[in-house]
Parts: sequence; C-alpha cells; structure tokens
Amino acid sequence: MNNFNLHNPTNVLFGKGQIENIANKIPADAKVLLLYGGGSIKKNGIYEQVTEALTSHKVIEFGGIPANPEYAVLMEALSIIKSEKITFLLAVGGGSVIDGTKFLAAAALYDGETPWDILTKNIRTEVGMPFGAVLTLPATGSEMNSGAVITRAETKEKYAMGGPGLFPLFSILDPTVIKSIPQRQLSNGLADAFVHVLEQYITYSVGANLQDRFAESVLQTIIEVAPKILKNPSDYEAASNFMWSCTMALNGLLSQGVPSDWGIHMIGHELTALFAIDHARTLAIITESHYTQNLDSKKEKLAQYATRVWDVTEGTMEERAKAGIQKTTEFFKSLGIDTKLSDYTADYEGTAELIAKRFTDRGWLKMGENGTLTPEVVSTIVKMSY
Ligand code: NZQ
Ligand code: ZN
Repeated sequence: MNNFNLHNPTNVLFGKGQIENIANKIPADAKVLLLYGGGSIKKNGIYEQVTEALTSHKVIEFGGIPANPEYAVLMEALSIIKSEKITFLLAVGGGSVIDGTKFLAAAALYDGETPWDILTKNIRTEVGMPFGAVLTLPATGSEMNSGAVITRAETKEKYAMGGPGLFPLFSILDPTVIKSIPQRQLSNGLADAFVHVLEQYITYSVGANLQDRFAESVLQTIIEVAPKILKNPSDYEAASNFMWSCTMALNGLLSQGVPSDWGIHMIGHELTALFAIDHARTLAIITESHYTQNLDSKKEKLAQYATRVWDVTEGTMEERAKAGIQKTTEFFKSLGIDTKLSDYTADYEGTAELIAKRFTDRGWLKMGENGTLTPEVVSTIVKMSY
C-alpha cells in the first residue's frame, strides 16, 4: 500500500428529515446566498423545506445554474456575492449546483486577474468561502469532496478545479429527495458513481487489500441497487444505499494508498464540452475502449474485478479481464445508457484528433496511473469509441 494523508472535514447529515438541521449549521448572523439549478427544487418540495429551515436567516437566492455549470452564469452569481456582501453559500442541487458553488467559494476570495485562471492555470484553492450543500441527486460525490468541474460554452471547454479549501462544511443527504429524479438522471448517477470507483481501482495492484475490497463493495452495492431504484425511486432502502454509495465512491476514501487513473473522465469531459453529452454517458462511451486499449497494464485488476464483482471464474487472466470489460458495457446498457459516440452524434469524425490536439496544447502528455496515456493513445481510444 502507498503512503497517504487523509483529511475530510465535511460533516454529513444523512437520512430523512435532516434538511431542517441546516439552520444549526449556518452561523445565525450569516448572509446566505441560496444557489440552485433549473427549478426542480421548486416542484418537489425541497425548496420549501430549505426556506422553512432558514426563516431566521438572511437569505438571497440565485437560481438557474445549468447542468454542466456554466462559467458565464456563475459570474453573475459572483457579482451578487460581492454587491450583497454574502458570507455563506448554500448549494441545493446535484453535482452541477454544488460544483458551481465551489467555483464561487474559490472565486469570491481569489485576488488574481480573472477567476477563469483558477480553471485554466489549475490554481488550487487553499481557503474558500464557507458553504454547505443539500444534495438532491446522488452521482458525483461533490457533496463530500473538494473538486469541481466548470464548463464554458463560449469556448466549448470544461475544466476541473479544487483544493483543500473547497470541502463543503456540511452536506445534507436525505434519500427521500430521490423520488422526483427522472430515470435518465438516476441512470446517470448510477453510471457516474460506478466509473468513479473504477477510476480508483482498475489500475495496478499495490497490495492494498482493504482499499480493493472497499471499491468492490461499492461496485457490488451499485449493481444490486440499480434495478431497484430504477423501478421504484421511492424505495427508501434502495435510495439510501444508492445515495451513500455515490458519496463513498468519490469522497477521497477509495483513492488512499492506491494509484488512480482518471483517464476516462479526462476524455469524457471533452465529449461533454464538444457535444453537450451528459457527463455519465461520456464515461460509458469511453470505458470499454480505454480498458481494451490498456489491457496489458490493467489486466490483473480487471480480472480481479471480473471475478470478485461479476463472478467470472473461468478462463485465463486475460480472458477474465476481457469478460470484466464486457460485463461493464452490459451494465451501462442495463441502465439504458448507450456506449458509442455515434449513438449520440452523427458529427463525430475528427473528434479523436481534436481531443488529442487539445491535450497536447495543454501539456497533458502523460496521463493515467502509469503516465502512458499520451495524446496519441487518447486519439486511438476515442476512435475505438466511435
Ligand atoms: O437543474 P435542476 O432543475 O435542479 O434539475 C437537475 C438537472 O436538470 C435535475 N435534478 C437534480 N436533482 C433532482 C433533479 N430533478 C428532479 N428531482 C431531483 N431531486 O437533474 C439534472 C442534472 O443535474 P446535475 O447536477 O447536472 O447532475 P449531476 O449531479 O450528475 O452533476 C453533473 C456535473 O457534475 C460534474 C460533471 O462533470 C457535471 O458537470 N462532476 C463533478 C464531480 C465532482 N465535483 O467531484 C465529479 C464527477 O466526475 C463529475 O465530473
Ligand atoms: Zn464522474
């Protein structure tokens, strides 16, 4: 097992009825900016619960943060934070609203030339404005990690950011919010969390047995819960296991002491930026090609995954590894998610070269756990995904 340094300060309040506790978590004299997305919270009762809990706080609202949180929209929120002298941010939404709030928490205290630098120059946020979250969509793990991904439509770019100053102070995880989530977003959440685990597990073995079994248990729970939650999002037992699995998939625990890949996400972000394909679906497009192309370096873990998670017991290591890749594609399909770029756009020619060029221009020359994911290999993987 590799050395590690684990610190996660987010206070998680999990379960039914926890929304009313936000009032105790936000300083009484805070001036709060309540941030939300396209309006789902106004149709499913979450908005009422939040505003009721905050009746004794000073609250201003900012709605309209779109899926794949948009830089230009967030800059409007930033000017409100400054003009209204906001002291606390409260995100009520899925990954997009929480990520947008993290960007604002960073940008509000950033004294460089433009907040765009935080994204393009990869500036880590050591101290951000305090914020909390009410999670409405299990998927990203943003509610308990310090990362965010921000999109700029104008330039068709999407960049990750983060830093130790961007953990939510608290996050409310109430599984009853799941009942209003549309099927498409439920599938996205299941697939996204599944790939988060894979990115931290399908690498090479460092003898971190407990970490491997943590990863496998999250994968198994997602597989078990997927058909139940898709059939009945009001099933509280399924909803609670789904929600906690998504958080555990990316709250920093699984990556401790082991190598991480993140190649699927890096390529996937480009597909969202270029074609506006849902984040989770971009991952489903890239996963099979990525693992097939990198079979040699990943086959030991892929075979272990096939055996322990999918019960594939027959065959050589390579055969089991390939079966594991196949099972993963079948899992995405069982969620109703297509796995080829051509399923989403007819305009895919040239995508591989374009993404490889972007990575070259940004100096992203050696990605993946072995540093062997070069722009050339990325191009091959994207072509295999057409
Ligand atoms: O905007 P509203 O009206 O709220 O509707 C949203 C949105 O349309 C809807 N929704 C959310 N909760 C709902 C609901 N509808 C009904 N009932 C509810 N309870 O769902 C739609 C999608 O929401 P969004 O927040 O965009 O989804 P998700 O949580 O999948 O977030 C995706 C974003 O997170 C980034 C992605 O790149 C993408 O930009 N990620 C963030 C990560 C992180 N911070 O650690 C890691 C991930 O890998 C990912 O990159
Ligand atoms: Zn993801």
